[in-house]
Amino acid sequence: MARGPQQATGEDKKAQEILQSTGEIPRHIAIIMDGNGRWAKKRGMPRIAGHSEGVESVRDTVEACGQLGVQFLTLYAFSTENWKRPAEEVSLLMRLLLKALKDETDRLHRNNVRLQAIGDIAALPREVQDELSEDIGKTGSNTGLTLTLALSYSGRWDLTRAIKKLAADLQAGKISETAISDELVTEYLSTAGIPDPDLLIRTSGEFRISNFLLWQLAYSEIFITEKHWPAFRRDELYAAIRDYQKRERRFGMVSEQLQKDTAFGRFMKSVTGS
Ligand code: FPP
Repeated sequence: MARGPQQATGEDKKAQEILQSTGEIPRHIAIIMDGNGRWAKKRGMPRIAGHSEGVESVRDTVEACGQLGVQFLTLYAFSTENWKRPAEEVSLLMRLLLKALKDETDRLHRNNVRLQAIGDIAALPREVQDELSEDIGKTGSNTGLTLTLALSYSGRWDLTRAIKKLAADLQAGKISETAISDELVTEYLSTAGIPDPDLLIRTSGEFRISNFLLWQLAYSEIFITEKHWPAFRRDELYAAIRDYQKRERRFGMVSEQLQKDTAFGRFMKSVTGS
């Protein structure tokens, strides 16, 4: 039976159709899910209650992205630096992650979502590693949204690992120095095969990248919302996409070059051939 995301209904379907008609849906959205602790504290609850509600936000966001036709969603779920949190919180987070993976994988699979993970996976508890590899295997041939969980991940970890592998291949004569290019570096990163994010969303109002996809975010549009992650639902995702659709992505060029129908645009096309 062909799988696909369960379709939106009613008002939500309308909201999605409007978004699809007003502009481009970002191919890749990356999210820094921040503010779980603050959300819980505000309500007099333990931090883990914020993380737990955050799983609901993950579910809603994944579902809405699949329905909209977003092809890649990358979530910063646990950073290299998060290991420095109190041992009890780390342990509760790992248990929550394990439970979420166990509870959600069937739904992901039914919705044609392909699960992936990036980061120092070997540093995760054995049970989480085993569950992840089972779930990644189960959803591996799905063709809808690719959901990548960044776990025990940091941008510097990714770059350092890439540089080590590149240096080893250089030393072994598998590549030459002249072959080292932007594209080749990209292939050595843990995100090889995934296009760079078009849109980065950060919740909780902080203006930082926090060691996320340092290389990959070079030209991403950034949307920051005051909402804490547990309060983030699809309406805020739609607001981020609406904002993204108003941006002009110049990639270092000038505005006129992007407007192919202007005289300047046609001139540039004749010069560059594209
Ligand atoms: C940041 O909030 C959030 C995290 C460190 C963990 C995010 C994890 C989840 C949402 C649950 C599991 C995820 C998946 C993919 C199933 P914070 O604790 O830094 O909040 P604060 O800045 O208010 O303290």
